[in-house]
Amino acid sequence: MAIRRTASTIVVLVLCLALVSCEAFGGGGRGHGRVAGPRRPAGPRLPAGVGVEKAFIQTWTAACNYNGRVRIVVPLGVYKLSETVFQGPCKCQAPITFQVMGTLKAVADVSEYSGSGWITFDGITGLILTGGGTFDGQGQAVWKYNDCKENPNCVHLPAAIYFSQMKDTIIRGINLVNSMGFHMHITNSYLFRAIGLHITSPADSPNTDGMHISKSNLVRIVRNVIRTGDDCISIGQGATNVNITKVTCGPGHGISVGSLGKLPNEMDVTGIIVRNCTLVGTTNGLRIKTYPAKTPSRASGILFSNIVMNNVQNPIIIDQGYHTRSTKPSLIKISDVNFENIRGTSMSAVAVNLMCSSINPCQNVRFNNVNLKHSRNLRLTSTCVNARVGYSGFQYPPPCR
Ligand SMILES: *[C@@H]1O[C@H](CO)[C@@H](O)[C@H](O)[C@H]1NC(C)=O
Ligand SMILES: *[C@@H]1O[C@H](CO)[C@@H](O)[C@H](O)[C@H]1NC(C)=O
Repeated sequence: MAIRRTASTIVVLVLCLALVSCEAFGGGGRGHGRVAGPRRPAGPRLPAGVGVEKAFIQTWTAACNYNGRVRIVVPLGVYKLSETVFQGPCKCQAPITFQVMGTLKAVADVSEYSGSGWITFDGITGLILTGGGTFDGQGQAVWKYNDCKENPNCVHLPAAIYFSQMKDTIIRGINLVNSMGFHMHITNSYLFRAIGLHITSPADSPNTDGMHISKSNLVRIVRNVIRTGDDCISIGQGATNVNITKVTCGPGHGISVGSLGKLPNEMDVTGIIVRNCTLVGTTNGLRIKTYPAKTPSRASGILFSNIVMNNVQNPIIIDQGYHTRSTKPSLIKISDVNFENIRGTSMSAVAVNLMCSSINPCQNVRFNNVNLKHSRNLRLTSTCVNARVGYSGFQYPPPCR
């Protein structure tokens, strides 16, 4: 790595993989603003015996232990990287900035991964991940090993970026493509913001959720464009105070609360606000899905507001018998769910489909101004099973009777 002090006392560590480039980074930079690295036509040349992972980890360790403010720069170029963990806590002054300008490419060999992520950030207080670069999970090489459709106990392929035990994180202006599993998995974290991300993988890629959030509090997701083969954003157990604003989804499976109740002793979900989002050509629009569950939990305080649907299969759906042929009613209690100002087009006739649990009927579900149309001008209907629903304002499809 090359180390440089700048006028503003931020220290910039530029990731270097070959001595030649390190010298090139050594002098004359402006600091603080952009760091102009030499443009490499191909991947960087490695000194014999030094893995890319090692170069990343050495740079991370130096930054993390630095006594002051610090920024890591990954210059333009392509870096092929296997499983890598950036571990906190750090001694440097928070936040630590990780500026990725280049493209990180995953090693597409599932046997090389032991944890939940390809790139993991763990236990860090104050991280800014930015830089306009790309995390390319190379999922197309491994999706064929995903058997989750047939095997309910399947092992999930690693998330492209796994955030665990993070406090005060900002990820901004990063691209994620073709992750093996989820593109981003945020868990056990507090104060997390994801802004201006582009997430892209094919419509038929398996379990490639754009973002999955669990056991995290105070999460804000703003202005992201997410095109994947699975949920755009999925909100799992223990997610609380999550705001999702101005996100565009599709293709994919839409915005989901769930699946909940797959594991025993799950934590409640509460305080979810989804606002000003657009869903285009997704299989579901706004969905809450639960398994029958072994132990009870709750999903409550959920607001979907100002949502545009464009050719969505199932615009509004609560499915408490998700993914199961069992007739056992779900132990998960859904309450205080508001749908307001929902408009656009539905591909299927049942545009609103609420299938709640017979032992825990959905309580206090409210619809205010829902204006959907069938994509081919057919009639739309609503179905409600075990749901107490209140209506105000305009309603099309017409309310359940
Ligand atoms: C979510 O939005 C609500 C209402 O605008 C706001 O009060 C709350 O602080 C926001 N929470 C987060 C985590 O951004
Ligand atoms: C959502 O859109 C409405 C209408 O365009 C606007 O008034 C409101 O400020 C927006 N809210 C957020 C949180 O972006």
